[in-house]
Amino acid sequence: MPSAAASERGSGSTLPQVTYCFRCIGCGSVTHSAAQDFRCAQCGNLLEITDPAWNSSSLDAAALKSVWRDRRASNAMLDRSGVWRFRELLPAPASPQQVVTLREGNTPLYELPQASHSTGVVRLYAKHQGMNPTGSFKDTGMTVAATFARQAGYHWVACASTGNTSASMAAYAARGGMRSLVLVPDGKISWSKLSQALDHGALTCQLRTDFDGCLRLLQQLVLRAPVYQLNSINPFRLEGQKTLALELLEQLDWQPPDHIIVPGGNLGNSSAIGKALLEMRDLGFIPRLPKLSVIQAEGANALVRTMREAGGKRLVSVQAETRATAIRIGNPASWEKAVKVLEATGGACEQVSEPEIAQAKAEIGVEGIGCEPASAVTLAGLKKLLRQGFVIREETVVLILTGNLLKDPDFTMDFHRGSLFQGTAHESESTQLKRFRHPPVVLDATLDAVIQALEQAEKSDPAHSNA
Ligand code: F0G
Repeated sequence: MPSAAASERGSGSTLPQVTYCFRCIGCGSVTHSAAQDFRCAQCGNLLEITDPAWNSSSLDAAALKSVWRDRRASNAMLDRSGVWRFRELLPAPASPQQVVTLREGNTPLYELPQASHSTGVVRLYAKHQGMNPTGSFKDTGMTVAATFARQAGYHWVACASTGNTSASMAAYAARGGMRSLVLVPDGKISWSKLSQALDHGALTCQLRTDFDGCLRLLQQLVLRAPVYQLNSINPFRLEGQKTLALELLEQLDWQPPDHIIVPGGNLGNSSAIGKALLEMRDLGFIPRLPKLSVIQAEGANALVRTMREAGGKRLVSVQAETRATAIRIGNPASWEKAVKVLEATGGACEQVSEPEIAQAKAEIGVEGIGCEPASAVTLAGLKKLLRQGFVIREETVVLILTGNLLKDPDFTMDFHRGSLFQGTAHESESTQLKRFRHPPVVLDATLDAVIQALEQAEKSDPAHSNA
């Protein structure tokens, strides 16, 4: 019997040829290397990765679908990652030994029976990226970008973050033998996310600014110090995040859904999913494109305003404010990429209110899966798109849940205890959310008290207990 380590290096761990290059999304110039800030040397715009090998004469879609499926039964290291399993559509590292992986991806696609019933959308699914190793979708991009950081010989990697990127980066840096520098807005990220970065050994700086201020500083830092930038400006991140779409389509037996709905913050994820959909269409994996819609919090609605007030031609920045702290971003870096995706797929861009987010999060919670507040904008957004007639009930809809329920316990506790909106402009509106709250009850430690609580619960929600 081969040892586990030997089988991880087994025959499945071969990589495609290194042929990728960088293309500017603005002027289109193509280069084989990128500067530290991952911006085009000609025009300063963002770069994306492309590969001449990704064309329909060198890739056989039908054959790859079966290779990718077969790899799920393999024990080789690359095959066990739900990202590297799709390596034919990723930039190739020089050797499998460079790959930094925590067996990310391979996340579940859940049905949502209760939300399906309440919205009337019969084929409603949630792709739960919160089931990744560090609890968010960031891991799928981080495995690729951390791999290229290590391959380039960096000792330090760095990011600005609302929390999840830093948790993920710290874990992958630790795994890859690199040190990590985290810049987060002081007081504006959840303790759970911050604690992950601490535990994985990051140098964690809480800056007295917001996320946008942290990102600005990071972009200056990478030009001055030998640190490798792991924000989603780094195009390797987006390549890894593409695999969400590949895996989703595989889970749907390559029948494209009508709609994919994703939260929008810095707009890397919507850009990555859109890139994957376009590549899959062009390579013949899917016959048509789903509409990719982006939902933001009303208080952090830069893309919504960019589309409405500037027709997607220039960024309208905002001073961001929302309790969904993961998407508390006013100056999204990848806005141009996201605009292209909205235009190419015909998706919508919408905003939802704080009470709508809180209600949707509670509704996803009672499905038995849960998510963090930023992810819940997808269900809140779906309800709005249904009201507008942009989505119709007969269509297939996939919500992308980006983060795990355990990422933001303060939000959840404040919601159920009824204090989430206390002293805010939403206080009176939020009384309607009472029926979604399940606050803890403090009782004397007697049998009578517990039986009484049980009877009380049965009386107040009999339908639920009979279900
Ligand atoms: N959902 C969650 C849970 C997130 O953490 C983020 C972004 C988003 C959605 C938005 O994704 O930025 O690609 O549009 N979090 C980043 C961070 C910014 O630092 O963790 P996006």
